[in-house]
Amino acid sequence: MSERHLACTVDELEPGTSMTVKGPVPAIALHRTESGAFFATADTCTHEEWSLGDEGDLEGDELVCPLHMARFDLATGKALCLPATLGLATYDVVVEAGQVFVVTEPRT
Ligand code: FES
Repeated sequence: MSERHLACTVDELEPGTSMTVKGPVPAIALHRTESGAFFATADTCTHEEWSLGDEGDLEGDELVCPLHMARFDLATGKALCLPATLGLATYDVVVEAGQVFVVTEPRT
């Protein structure tokens, strides 16, 4: 059953940054683009073990793993280039009353 998990307040995640959400297993990364849109993906890069919430970079609507430069589509989780060949799970994000929740059941 899917549950909402409080990740942070809107003000706690600056545009253009990501964070690893504390609590859910497997870990979820929450991202906020420069334009202010929120996305949630699996936290661990599908190439090797690397936290995309702690160390990932956002470029527009793409998430870049800085370890070997794999790129993922934030909305779909699709792997856009090597060395990643598998996409990331994605999760719904709900913003309510200044709080940001992730739905812990993956969409994909
Ligand atoms: S661990 Fe992410 S690209 Fe290699």
